[in-house]
Amino acid sequence: MLDTLKRPLRDLRVSVTDRCNFRCIYCMPREVFGPDFAFLPHEQILTFEEIARLTRIFVSLGVDKIRLTGGEPLVRRDLHRLVGMLAPLEGLHDLALTTNGSLLPVHAAKLAAAGLKRVTVSLDALDDPTFMAMNDSGVPVARVLQGIEAAKAAGMGPIKVNAVIKRGVNEHAVLDLARHFRGTGYVIRFIEFMDVGNSNGWRMDDVVTAGEIVRRIHAEWPLEAVPPARPGEVASRYRYLDGQGEIGVIASVTIPFCQACNRARLSADGKLFTCLFATEGHDLRARMRAGSSDEEITAFIRQVWEGRGDHYSEVRSSHTAGRRKRKKIEMSYIGG
Ligand code: GTP
Ligand code: 5AD
Ligand code: SF4
Ligand code: SF4
Repeated sequence: MLDTLKRPLRDLRVSVTDRCNFRCIYCMPREVFGPDFAFLPHEQILTFEEIARLTRIFVSLGVDKIRLTGGEPLVRRDLHRLVGMLAPLEGLHDLALTTNGSLLPVHAAKLAAAGLKRVTVSLDALDDPTFMAMNDSGVPVARVLQGIEAAKAAGMGPIKVNAVIKRGVNEHAVLDLARHFRGTGYVIRFIEFMDVGNSNGWRMDDVVTAGEIVRRIHAEWPLEAVPPARPGEVASRYRYLDGQGEIGVIASVTIPFCQACNRARLSADGKLFTCLFATEGHDLRARMRAGSSDEEITAFIRQVWEGRGDHYSEVRSSHTAGRRKRKKIEMSYIGG
């Protein structure tokens, strides 16, 4: 099954909740996601059984990699139960979780026992003042480091750490994080601040480019580029010449990777999005709850994918240059 740009569907990112216990300034700024924010009501959120059913259908259409995201997926109760339902699926080669790490000390062992093999933890700085300015929720660095250790102790790996770098806020974290994770086996990946959603006040001036990040690290500890591990990989990889491991940069702003984009996203309320920057989703929940058969849902997903032509990151400049803004979907809803 190929879309109009001849891209297959391989990777499904499933958002299990639109809520989060953090308020990262680049994702869920407190001014927007305050006490009055209307999160999805319970009955609109897919049950684990509904997620598992859709997942089976996606796997039958060629998906072999699933990532559970949010919001913060670990605020959804009993998430390990969903992991236990998905892990045994035949044809699924990779089941991973993206988390802010703060709840891993509590949940890592249960998740691993249910079959989760891999987590990616977000961590934007190594000093509390900067990290707390980024997460705006009072959670200290130590808590996330404990989460990473808990995942490792539970046998998960290789563990990746993601950091979004924002100009003037956590630029110094680039070298701090590189130094901290060098030689540990954890792979730190730096993400360019993106214009996802409508709330984070994105400006190009706030983006620290991947090129700049690589240059800064290279000046301290020389690096060389490594070829991608699989087609469509979002991170460009580099290894330390002194053998102390590797880093990644995710240059979605300066070097878009839409050409090989094989990702679909399922929101917590069961809408299928074919791009992180889509303005509208395709309602799978309504079809399921109206009694559609697996065959009907399969045919619908096929029709959506075969009609897909998204390549937002490649055309971003023409949208952001225009005065009228598109109404985009928030990352906390659609899943990172
Ligand atoms: P691995 O399988 O471990 O390599 O993970 P991944 O490559 O799926 O990366 P991860 O889920 O950690 O994503 C890292 C970040 O890359 C996300 O949080 C987003 O910021 C960005 N990203 C991921 N997918 C896309 C995408 O399709 N488009 C854009 N523009 N950015 C993306
Ligand atoms: N730009 C880049 N990455 C973002 N994330 C959330 N919002 C943004 C943004 N505006 C990333 C987080 C986390 C993942 C869930 O999504 O850093 O790693
Ligand atoms: Fe929560 Fe992750 Fe968004 Fe931060 S980036 S607010 S941890 S969903
Ligand atoms: Fe894929 Fe859209 Fe991201 Fe491009 S902008 S890589 S099409 S999700």
